[in-house]
Amino acid sequence: MTELTIGEIPVSQLANEYQTPLYVYDEKKMEETIKSFKLNFDSDSFQTKILYASKAFQTVELLHLIAEQGLGLDVVSGGEIYTALQAGFPLEDIYFHGNNKTIDELRYAIENDIRHFVADNGMEVEVLEELSREYQKKLQIMLRLNVGIEAHTHEYIVTAHIDSKFGMLYDSDVCQQAIARIQQSEFLRLEGFHAHIGSQIFDMTAWLAEIDQLVTYLEDFQQPLSLNLGGGFGIRYTEADTPLPIAESVKHLVTHTEQTLADRNLTIDRLLIEPGRSIVGEAGTTLYTVGYIKETPHKKYYFVDGGMTDNIRPALYQAEYTCDLANKLDIEKTEKVTVAGKMCESGDVVIQETQLPPAEPGDLLAVYATGAYGYSMSSNYNRALRPAVVFVKDGVSREVVRRQTYADLLRGEVYADL
Ligand code: LLP
Repeated sequence: MTELTIGEIPVSQLANEYQTPLYVYDEKKMEETIKSFKLNFDSDSFQTKILYASKAFQTVELLHLIAEQGLGLDVVSGGEIYTALQAGFPLEDIYFHGNNKTIDELRYAIENDIRHFVADNGMEVEVLEELSREYQKKLQIMLRLNVGIEAHTHEYIVTAHIDSKFGMLYDSDVCQQAIARIQQSEFLRLEGFHAHIGSQIFDMTAWLAEIDQLVTYLEDFQQPLSLNLGGGFGIRYTEADTPLPIAESVKHLVTHTEQTLADRNLTIDRLLIEPGRSIVGEAGTTLYTVGYIKETPHKKYYFVDGGMTDNIRPALYQAEYTCDLANKLDIEKTEKVTVAGKMCESGDVVIQETQLPPAEPGDLLAVYATGAYGYSMSSNYNRALRPAVVFVKDGVSREVVRRQTYADLLRGEVYADL
């Protein structure tokens, strides 16, 4: 029977060695995607920088790969900073985002020489000013703006999210005061503006509108600033998804920015983007073992040994995925089934409806494109153990996160002996 291989390794071998559920990442795929970003996100008119949005999937080994490829990093919490520091990530390439960074997190970042802060609101700018003075350290500030554009796959809405929790309206008093505060400060420097208009974007129009909007703000400044366009490059989860090739979309972002700047006779220092999902999503596959098979009056269930604890996205967003019986690739898909997890929750469904071959307990089920927001949003609900994460390349596999043990579940608990 034909079997799925990832990174030239048959998946049964991976399942035997590391057990299931298992997150498997194809390193070559990540490297190729990054290459495509780097080759095409390039300009003669300004510098460019790609920041990997590490919330999509962060481990020390992944950050090593990201650093080796020369990408910078978008971090959003003390925990993500800690991981980046443990990975030895170049500090000058780390950008600290978030709408409510705590004082402790800001101190932690500044003490560890992180220099780039994406400030979300006026109060944060005040705090950054005070802290920069206290530490006598120069900080580069990007202001997160709400440009009033929200992209949703093929559509976009203007002034959709005027009340978003993220960002400031450029014309608001708060934003103008924040700019003035930075400009008057001895220790803060206005690096530029940031906006993020959505995720799983399949169409350029919203992005182009975002660029137009951001560029208009630059007219108020003498010095060239930088623009960060955020992340959101779409990936293919199912056949219904039709993302643009990375090369095409990032090239388009660059040329449109060049053109818009030229039209207005403006220049920028750097253009930045922050892809997360598109770098790791399609490179990740989750392997499960099929357990019981159950028929109800109207449905057939294949139960697997994981579920919403390793991938919350179907339950949380009704996200759709594709899958295969990985050890039966050549068997006809005669069964209409629901793939459900093992957690005590009716919503714990991995795939609502799909066609698969007849299965028996012990078969391997591979769910594709689970590399983004799977492991990073995993939980110990039902005291499920977080699966191992394995990187594969050229026939070699290595564990980058070991499977949790029962003892891990009690780590941090404080209790008396009975
Ligand atoms: N930059 C900023 C400021 C962001 O807020 C995000 C994602 C990104 C970059 C990366 O976006 P990406 O390229 O990965 O689409 N948990 C959700 C996604 C939440 C995204 C939040 N922000 C999911 O599983 O679909």
